[in-house]
Amino acid sequence: MKPSSEIPRPAGSLISHSVRFVRNTMLFYEEASRECGDIFATRIPGLGNWVYVCSPELARSVFEAPPEVMAGGDIEGFSLAHLLGEGAASHLDGPAHRERRDVTSRYLGAQASLRHVDDVREITERRLERWPRGKPFPLVLELQRIALESLIKVFFSGADEDRVRQLADLYESFSFKGLRSPTSVHPSLQIDLGPWSPWGRVKQRQRELVKVFSQEIDARLAPSDRPEVDDVLQGLARARLGDGSRLSREVILAEILDLLFQGHELTGDSMTWTMGELATHPEVLARLRQELDSVVGAEGVRSAHLAALPYLEAVVREGLRRRPSNFFTRVGRVKQPLPLGGYLLPPGTMVAVCYPAVAMREDLFANPQGFAPDHFLGKQPPAGACPFGGGPHICAGKDLAVVVMKVAVATIVRKAELKLAQDEIRPVRNAYYYEPNKGLLVTLENRPS
Ligand code: HEM
Repeated sequence: MKPSSEIPRPAGSLISHSVRFVRNTMLFYEEASRECGDIFATRIPGLGNWVYVCSPELARSVFEAPPEVMAGGDIEGFSLAHLLGEGAASHLDGPAHRERRDVTSRYLGAQASLRHVDDVREITERRLERWPRGKPFPLVLELQRIALESLIKVFFSGADEDRVRQLADLYESFSFKGLRSPTSVHPSLQIDLGPWSPWGRVKQRQRELVKVFSQEIDARLAPSDRPEVDDVLQGLARARLGDGSRLSREVILAEILDLLFQGHELTGDSMTWTMGELATHPEVLARLRQELDSVVGAEGVRSAHLAALPYLEAVVREGLRRRPSNFFTRVGRVKQPLPLGGYLLPPGTMVAVCYPAVAMREDLFANPQGFAPDHFLGKQPPAGACPFGGGPHICAGKDLAVVVMKVAVATIVRKAELKLAQDEIRPVRNAYYYEPNKGLLVTLENRPS
């Protein structure tokens, strides 16, 4: 076993790595993996020692590393629990993590997700009605809102349109002006001087969010309130843990806020990338519309249609491959020496599965640089190449995300013609994820008949 110091590094100085990393992170990773192979290391100042894996086989080894060897839950410096609340599943590891995931998986799995098709379609149709015509607007904001309202409706089933919008607006404002604030991730900036200080304003928004979401949860969990309802919230409230105890209201709230954080932006961003690819690949759009026109009637996409729409599924999966919004499908911190790819990684090393590099492999995808849904028609890539990660921490919302994306994309494509209103599309970082620059400016026109 070789020491980790022998892991290949991209050529050039640390400064040149940092410049390339900041200028175009995705390209930096793609080039580094081409230059170094399946495993490479960098030390970007301020980020520490990182090791990246770029093959499905090594990705699986990372996914399957036991929690006592690699921490996957609460990783110091990566947690937003100080804003979203302590105790959500994504912060746990080992048996406690498994137990919590078992509770939510009942509501977020493939079959359960199909129950939400009508809600997602109606939310998309409603929002689409309000898009401006003939005037460029950033699509990403609109698609993030569709994702956010859809998730709120899943967690708080039966909430009426106005309440869903109120909760979504509040969460969105907290997300833009709270979670994305630099103060949220830099403890040295967390000085609360009330409304006069940036951190004070973040905390004020957080208090407001906690108050309103807690009221919603309390109202829904009141004993006399609709015992027949069975949704994510009720599931969390009714769960009995191994020791017989129940989850506290604080933990339930933290779980809901964490699911929203983990889910809504990534789903909205991924749909945006896919819509951008459709706008620049008219032949794919035409084939998708042909499939939709032959399967979906005037009443719009229904859950029963989804199994008969393989090209729609392939378009969404190809969008996730070609344009990932999250660059790592797993990040962990080594706790005990970890053998990986013939090297021994010491405790403290950060390990990441570098998804852009895995997704661009020629041995996995025939046309990696293109946008080719055929990559996913009747084929599944190896488990290590999944955009939702793998192992115990695999994305809790992977099935729901795909349903939301399929229904929203199909609804938009059937009803609207979106023309790109910018020349170049490239990924830019927006706090935690990568979105198209300018939020993907598009102009809405009527779909030609
Ligand atoms: C296109 C949309 C999405 C993508 C690409 C995505 C991707 C990911 C990835 C790569 C991970 C890390 C997996 C790992 O560490 O092995 C993750 C974790 C997670 N995701 Fe997603 N996700 C998406 C949507 C969602 C949605 C809609 C939800 C909620 C309904 C969600 C909830 C979560 C949670 C709770 C975790 C942490 C799981 C754990 O630590 O146990 N995600 N997601």
